[in-house]
Amino acid sequence: MSAETAEAAVAPGGQAALDRELVERYGSPLYVYDLDRVERARADLRAALPDGFTLYYSLKANPHPGLVRALREGPGGCRAEVCSTGELASALEAGHPADTILYSGPGKTAVEMAAALTAGVRTFSVESPGDLRRLGAEAVRHGTVARVLLRVNSAAAAATTSIRMTGTPSQFGIDAETLPGLLPALLEVPGTEVVGAHFFPLSNSKDEESLTAEFTATVEQAAALEHDLGLPLSVLDIGGGFAAPYSVPGERPHYPNLRAALEKALDTRLPRWRTDGLEIACESGRHLVGDSGRLLTRVTNVKESRGRTFAVLDAGINTLGGMAGLGRLLPLSVDPAGHRTGEAVQVSLAGPLCTPGDLLSRSVRMPAPRPGDVLAVPNTGAYGPTASLLLFLGRPAPAELLLRGGEVVSASRLVSSRTEVA
Ligand SMILES: Cc1ncc(COP(=O)(O)O)c(C=O)c1O
Repeated sequence: MSAETAEAAVAPGGQAALDRELVERYGSPLYVYDLDRVERARADLRAALPDGFTLYYSLKANPHPGLVRALREGPGGCRAEVCSTGELASALEAGHPADTILYSGPGKTAVEMAAALTAGVRTFSVESPGDLRRLGAEAVRHGTVARVLLRVNSAAAAATTSIRMTGTPSQFGIDAETLPGLLPALLEVPGTEVVGAHFFPLSNSKDEESLTAEFTATVEQAAALEHDLGLPLSVLDIGGGFAAPYSVPGERPHYPNLRAALEKALDTRLPRWRTDGLEIACESGRHLVGDSGRLLTRVTNVKESRGRTFAVLDAGINTLGGMAGLGRLLPLSVDPAGHRTGEAVQVSLAGPLCTPGDLLSRSVRMPAPRPGDVLAVPNTGAYGPTASLLLFLGRPAPAELLLRGGEVVSASRLVSSRTEVA
């Protein structure tokens, strides 16, 4: 399905009735996250990974504390990977002990590092020599030693698909080819102890073969860094890349052969992973939460303009997919959450903001819209409100519901407010 010609399906009656009820009760736009689906995704991902792996949930996908808590609790619970003090606050609110949290990101400031250290965070992914020195200085000031994973920007890419984050010039990680020269000094930075390596070469890889090739290359590279350069390796975070559909219908991909392939790669190159002294970690955001969410939005106005039908919605790029405002339209699809069928027509879905960039989809096929219609955008549990232009034009954030067993267990809304700074 292309961005230009998304297809709209009519929601089954039961779901449509529930959507309308929720919108009537809680207003719109409205995000609805199903915690049972979140737990299913976690169980499936756990089953695709070898036993004993640490699994980090990357809060950037959705930092809702209730959802973070659900991922922490119960069998196969996840730890938290955060990259801001806001995400750290959510992780702590969700009950994560600070000393189990991984703090990452290419732009950590000294102020953030100090806040994280004060909160009790001790493990950081470090993206450059400057990042490491700043962290060391803050740790010394706090009278502690920070455990460091050096994030490595591999020289070459194994996988060919998906969103790539390494193998090219990048703000992420330390270029692998510079490590022979840099490592001796990196191991001596006061206030830090390098305990391992962090890789995150790609995101959203549907293709199991590609993902497996990338993980295998990562394991080989980590083993070589340990063997050839003496990189301390008691923790190896091999990253993620597990995919999920985003704002279109579809299923989470499964990775039925990954577990055996990872075990083989580790047994070959780092066999001590089975016994002791080497913790292997993975990270996932979208795969764990993406299919748990639906965005419900109401049509506020319908108009014709020069032969095109526009449905103006109460959700725009301030609610979903802020990147759409940069001209990267989502391949969005909607379920008209009503019982009307009728002949499908081409409709442009515009948001409520005063910018031509506020277009969620140029052309969706759907029954002719009417003001008041409720539309549902599927698979929006990841990269929803907090990945959107929430504050732009000052509209309230969408409400967010958590469901368990079909019942609403939490209803909330993010608020922003202005505060004086000294
Ligand atoms: C270091 C790191 N970890 C985890 C993630 C989460 O990615 P995803 O939501 O695709 O699992 C990202 C995404 O950019 C990332 O950069």
